[in-house]
Amino acid sequence: MTDVLTPVLSDIWDAEASWTLQTYREHGGYRALAIANDMAPGDIVNLVKGSNLRGRGGAGFPTGLKWSFLPPPDGGPRYLVVNADESEPGTCKDIPLMMANPHVLVEGVAITSRAIGCDHAFIYLRGEVVQVYRRLLAAVREASDAGLLGDLRVTVHAGAGAYICGEETALLDSLEGRRGQPRLKPPFPAVAGLYARPTVVNNVESIASVPGIVLGGAEWFSGLGTAKSSGHGIFSLSGHVERPGQYEAPMGITLRELLELAGGIRRGHRLKFWTPGGSSTPILTQEHLDVPLDFDSVAAAGSMLGTRALQIFDETVSVVRAVTRWIDFYKHESCGKCTPCREGTYWMQQLMHRLEAGQGTPEDIQTLDDVANNIFGRSFCALGDAATTPVTSGLQHFRDEFEAGCHTPAWELFPPEASALE
Ligand code: NAI
Ligand code: SF4
Repeated sequence: MTDVLTPVLSDIWDAEASWTLQTYREHGGYRALAIANDMAPGDIVNLVKGSNLRGRGGAGFPTGLKWSFLPPPDGGPRYLVVNADESEPGTCKDIPLMMANPHVLVEGVAITSRAIGCDHAFIYLRGEVVQVYRRLLAAVREASDAGLLGDLRVTVHAGAGAYICGEETALLDSLEGRRGQPRLKPPFPAVAGLYARPTVVNNVESIASVPGIVLGGAEWFSGLGTAKSSGHGIFSLSGHVERPGQYEAPMGITLRELLELAGGIRRGHRLKFWTPGGSSTPILTQEHLDVPLDFDSVAAAGSMLGTRALQIFDETVSVVRAVTRWIDFYKHESCGKCTPCREGTYWMQQLMHRLEAGQGTPEDIQTLDDVANNIFGRSFCALGDAATTPVTSGLQHFRDEFEAGCHTPAWELFPPEASALE
């Protein structure tokens, strides 16, 4: 379901056959590419820099600045890699975007490739979403057959379903045919990326935002949202809301405002806790309903904006059970390269399962806290840090429920049937 305040990326999602070249062109598609083709590459980079677009994959690094880190051309290849390996729990914005309007991404790829001087771009897609793979292939073929891509080659590559392959350097290893594991940074991909060549890695939504910026201008885009978090973004609401789905809105909208669009918390219930950007972002509570969902305000509230995957939980949900499920996920997805994450996620999983079963001890809670603190800041990549956030933020806001796990199973305190979605 789509309900938009600023229908830019999602403007044609409800149109008939929105994914076809014909529909996209009927709504002005590929006009931005025609404009960009008449611009000097450096001017496109400056336009995106001036828009203050920040990366939409979660980290919020300025997109134009990232492009400008590429070294000057040396005659060798340079690459654009679109990170379409959307796997963060709760995150479901890139997949709907690519299903509903793959051409806005293909157009963004063509413009970005011109800006950075690349003639071979890759879209690395999560392997499980076969329907998106087919749709992207069809869109690339349509655009190419229509002569829109010129000499640009666009390869759509499906991964094999490992969360770690969303980490940009693990993604590059995987694309090169190796087991996906993070590389040491620096060097950043901008300097030595795919096949050790200069590479821009950007999220789907970041690249899909580029045609709109070319059409609307840097001032238009930077005028939306907040001073330090410009533009529009897709917010995904899931869980205990009346109308879950994707809601496109200016950055800085609050959860209270989004809930109004989504029909509120499910009838007869109240908000208990939520994540601003998937399970890697510390949980927040009822008291954070009016925090503007921009990078700085969410950080000031003690969390991170991340992927704007708002997972909403009402009072029927056990925090201990939710945290246990997330830790199961991180334990399963840890790539095993570094000890703190490989061993630490294993120990956190053991401890959480004891607490969920009501068989924990006060020492277990202390050990859990210690293990999380020893993973954080000592892991090789962001996955290790992310794995600690459900535990530390859960303990911060709902310690009493962890203490209850020393005597009562979570399923007795919070019967699962009460929180089941219809
Ligand atoms: P990061 O902050 O290390 O890097 C962000 C981007 O900026 C990268 O592309 C990096 O290469 C670039 N960069 C940073 N400093 C640079 C420099 N000095 N020179 C050149 N380039 C530079 O963050 P990271 O580890 O890439 O991403 C973590 C984020 O990913 C988390 O905040 C999380 O929200 C998000 N995430 C998203 C998922 C999804 O499914 N979309 C899944 C898991 C995490
Ligand atoms: Fe692998 Fe986890 Fe270490 Fe990242 S933090 S390199 S996922 S073991």
